[in-house]
Amino acid sequence: MTKPGTISVTKPVSEELPREKFDELEKFIDSMETTKGVLIEILHKAQDIFGYLPRDVQLYIARKLGIPGAEVFGVVSFYSYFTTKPRGKHTISVCMGTACFVRGADKIIEKLKEKLGIESNEITEDGLFTLKDVRCIGACGLAPVVMVGDKVYGRVKEEELDEIINTYKNQEVTL
Ligand code: FES
Repeated sequence: MTKPGTISVTKPVSEELPREKFDELEKFIDSMETTKGVLIEILHKAQDIFGYLPRDVQLYIARKLGIPGAEVFGVVSFYSYFTTKPRGKHTISVCMGTACFVRGADKIIEKLKEKLGIESNEITEDGLFTLKDVRCIGACGLAPVVMVGDKVYGRVKEEELDEIINTYKNQEVTL
Protein backbone atom coordinates (compact mmCIF):
# COMPACT_ATOMS: atom_id res chain seq x y z
CA MET A 1 0.00 0.00 0.00
CA THR A 2 1.47 3.37 -1.00
CA LYS A 3 1.10 6.21 1.44
CA PRO A 4 0.71 9.48 -0.53
CA GLY A 5 2.36 11.53 2.19
CA THR A 6 5.65 9.79 1.53
CA ILE A 7 5.98 11.53 -1.84
CA SER A 8 7.34 15.07 -1.63
CA VAL A 9 6.51 17.22 -4.64
CA THR A 10 7.37 20.83 -5.51
CA LYS A 11 4.29 23.04 -5.53
CA PRO A 12 3.86 25.10 -8.72
CA VAL A 13 2.84 28.18 -6.74
CA SER A 14 1.81 31.33 -8.65
CA GLU A 15 -0.32 34.41 -8.09
CA GLU A 16 -3.45 32.54 -9.21
CA LEU A 17 -2.46 29.35 -7.43
CA PRO A 18 -1.38 30.40 -3.94
CA ARG A 19 0.72 28.27 -1.62
CA GLU A 20 -2.01 28.03 1.06
CA LYS A 21 -4.29 26.29 -1.41
CA PHE A 22 -1.59 23.78 -2.33
CA ASP A 23 -0.90 23.26 1.38
CA GLU A 24 -4.57 22.49 1.97
CA LEU A 25 -4.62 20.05 -0.94
CA GLU A 26 -1.39 18.41 0.23
CA LYS A 27 -2.82 17.93 3.70
CA PHE A 28 -5.89 16.29 2.22
CA ILE A 29 -3.85 13.96 0.01
CA ASP A 30 -1.50 13.09 2.86
CA SER A 31 -4.48 12.16 5.02
CA MET A 32 -5.37 9.39 2.57
CA GLU A 33 -4.43 5.87 3.51
CA THR A 34 -3.59 4.81 -0.02
CA THR A 35 -3.36 6.20 -3.55
CA LYS A 36 -5.60 3.44 -4.90
CA GLY A 37 -8.95 4.63 -6.23
CA VAL A 38 -8.69 8.06 -4.62
CA LEU A 39 -8.03 10.15 -7.73
CA ILE A 40 -11.62 11.30 -8.24
CA GLU A 41 -12.01 12.17 -4.57
CA ILE A 42 -8.81 14.22 -4.72
CA LEU A 43 -9.89 15.99 -7.90
CA HIS A 44 -13.19 16.96 -6.27
CA LYS A 45 -11.33 18.34 -3.30
CA ALA A 46 -8.86 20.19 -5.53
CA GLN A 47 -11.70 21.77 -7.51
CA ASP A 48 -13.33 22.83 -4.23
CA ILE A 49 -10.10 24.46 -3.13
CA PHE A 50 -8.98 26.13 -6.36
CA GLY A 51 -12.41 26.55 -7.97
CA TYR A 52 -11.13 24.75 -11.09
CA LEU A 53 -8.42 22.32 -12.16
CA PRO A 54 -5.66 24.07 -14.09
CA ARG A 55 -2.93 21.98 -15.68
CA ASP A 56 -0.43 22.75 -12.91
CA VAL A 57 -2.78 21.44 -10.25
CA GLN A 58 -3.45 18.28 -12.26
CA LEU A 59 0.28 17.70 -12.67
CA TYR A 60 0.87 18.28 -8.99
CA ILE A 61 -1.75 15.65 -8.14
CA ALA A 62 -0.23 13.21 -10.64
CA ARG A 63 3.27 13.61 -9.13
CA LYS A 64 1.93 13.42 -5.62
CA LEU A 65 0.17 10.15 -6.40
CA GLY A 66 3.05 8.84 -8.50
CA ILE A 67 0.85 8.31 -11.56
CA PRO A 68 1.17 9.60 -15.16
CA GLY A 69 -0.20 13.08 -15.85
CA ALA A 70 -2.14 11.59 -18.77
CA GLU A 71 -4.18 9.50 -16.33
CA VAL A 72 -5.24 12.61 -14.43
CA PHE A 73 -5.95 14.61 -17.63
CA GLY A 74 -8.03 11.68 -18.90
CA VAL A 75 -10.26 11.60 -15.82
CA VAL A 76 -10.66 15.40 -15.76
CA SER A 77 -11.71 15.55 -19.38
CA PHE A 78 -14.04 12.55 -19.06
CA TYR A 79 -16.25 14.01 -16.33
CA SER A 80 -18.09 17.18 -17.29
CA TYR A 81 -18.27 18.11 -13.61
CA PHE A 82 -14.58 18.97 -13.65
CA THR A 83 -13.51 22.23 -15.19
CA THR A 84 -10.07 23.39 -16.28
CA LYS A 85 -11.09 27.04 -16.51
CA PRO A 86 -11.95 29.39 -13.66
CA ARG A 87 -15.67 29.64 -13.02
CA GLY A 88 -17.85 32.49 -11.84
CA LYS A 89 -19.41 32.34 -8.42
CA HIS A 90 -22.66 31.08 -9.94
CA THR A 91 -22.85 28.73 -12.88
CA ILE A 92 -25.85 29.27 -15.14
CA SER A 93 -26.49 26.07 -17.07
CA VAL A 94 -28.88 26.05 -19.98
CA CYS A 95 -30.15 22.62 -20.98
CA MET A 96 -29.73 22.06 -24.71
CA GLY A 97 -31.25 18.55 -24.69
CA THR A 98 -33.91 17.76 -27.29
CA ALA A 99 -36.99 18.63 -25.19
CA CYS A 100 -35.50 21.95 -24.11
CA PHE A 101 -34.17 22.71 -27.56
CA VAL A 102 -37.56 22.33 -29.24
CA ARG A 103 -39.03 24.61 -26.59
CA GLY A 104 -36.62 27.43 -27.32
CA ALA A 105 -33.47 26.75 -25.27
CA ASP A 106 -31.38 28.17 -28.14
CA LYS A 107 -33.14 31.52 -27.78
CA ILE A 108 -32.74 31.43 -24.01
CA ILE A 109 -28.99 30.86 -24.22
CA GLU A 110 -28.56 33.53 -26.87
CA LYS A 111 -30.42 36.01 -24.67
CA LEU A 112 -28.27 35.08 -21.68
CA LYS A 113 -25.08 35.55 -23.71
CA GLU A 114 -26.31 38.98 -24.70
CA LYS A 115 -27.32 39.97 -21.15
CA LEU A 116 -24.15 38.66 -19.52
CA GLY A 117 -21.83 39.75 -22.32
CA ILE A 118 -20.11 36.36 -22.50
CA GLU A 119 -20.09 33.18 -24.57
CA SER A 120 -20.58 29.65 -23.19
CA ASN A 121 -17.86 28.57 -20.77
CA GLU A 122 -16.81 32.14 -20.15
CA ILE A 123 -16.90 34.10 -16.95
CA THR A 124 -18.46 37.56 -16.52
CA GLU A 125 -16.13 40.46 -15.83
CA ASP A 126 -17.33 40.79 -12.24
CA GLY A 127 -16.58 37.08 -11.68
CA LEU A 128 -20.18 36.42 -10.71
CA PHE A 129 -21.43 34.15 -13.50
CA THR A 130 -20.26 31.41 -15.80
CA LEU A 131 -22.56 30.33 -18.62
CA LYS A 132 -22.72 26.71 -19.71
CA ASP A 133 -24.74 24.71 -22.20
CA VAL A 134 -25.43 21.26 -20.88
CA ARG A 135 -27.10 18.05 -22.00
CA CYS A 136 -30.46 16.84 -20.66
CA ILE A 137 -30.58 17.18 -16.90
CA GLY A 138 -33.59 14.89 -16.55
CA ALA A 139 -36.26 17.53 -16.03
CA CYS A 140 -37.67 17.44 -19.57
CA GLY A 141 -41.25 17.98 -18.34
CA LEU A 142 -40.14 21.47 -17.29
CA ALA A 143 -38.50 22.36 -20.60
CA PRO A 144 -36.89 24.72 -21.28
CA VAL A 145 -34.79 24.38 -18.17
CA VAL A 146 -32.12 26.67 -16.74
CA MET A 147 -30.12 25.85 -13.63
CA VAL A 148 -28.22 28.27 -11.46
CA GLY A 149 -25.98 26.20 -9.24
CA ASP A 150 -28.33 23.47 -7.99
CA LYS A 151 -31.52 25.48 -8.38
CA VAL A 152 -33.72 24.47 -11.29
CA TYR A 153 -35.84 27.01 -13.16
CA GLY A 154 -38.48 25.37 -15.36
CA ARG A 155 -40.50 26.62 -18.36
CA VAL A 156 -38.22 29.62 -18.50
CA LYS A 157 -39.26 32.55 -20.67
CA GLU A 158 -36.91 35.15 -22.09
CA GLU A 159 -38.71 37.84 -20.07
CA GLU A 160 -37.80 36.07 -16.83
CA LEU A 161 -34.06 36.06 -17.39
CA ASP A 162 -33.42 39.49 -15.89
CA GLU A 163 -35.24 38.48 -12.73
CA ILE A 164 -33.19 35.28 -12.44
CA ILE A 165 -29.90 37.12 -12.97
CA ASN A 166 -30.86 39.87 -10.54
CA THR A 167 -31.68 37.37 -7.79
CA TYR A 168 -28.00 36.43 -7.67
CA LYS A 169 -26.72 39.94 -8.19
CA ASN A 170 -28.87 41.17 -5.29
CA GLN A 171 -27.53 38.40 -3.04
CA GLU A 172 -24.12 40.02 -3.42
CA VAL A 173 -25.44 43.40 -2.39
CA THR A 174 -27.13 42.06 0.75
CA LEU A 175 -24.10 39.98 1.82
S1 FES B 1 -33.93 17.97 -22.46
FE1 FES B 1 -33.73 19.56 -21.02
S2 FES B 1 -34.13 18.56 -19.16
FE2 FES B 1 -34.26 16.99 -20.61
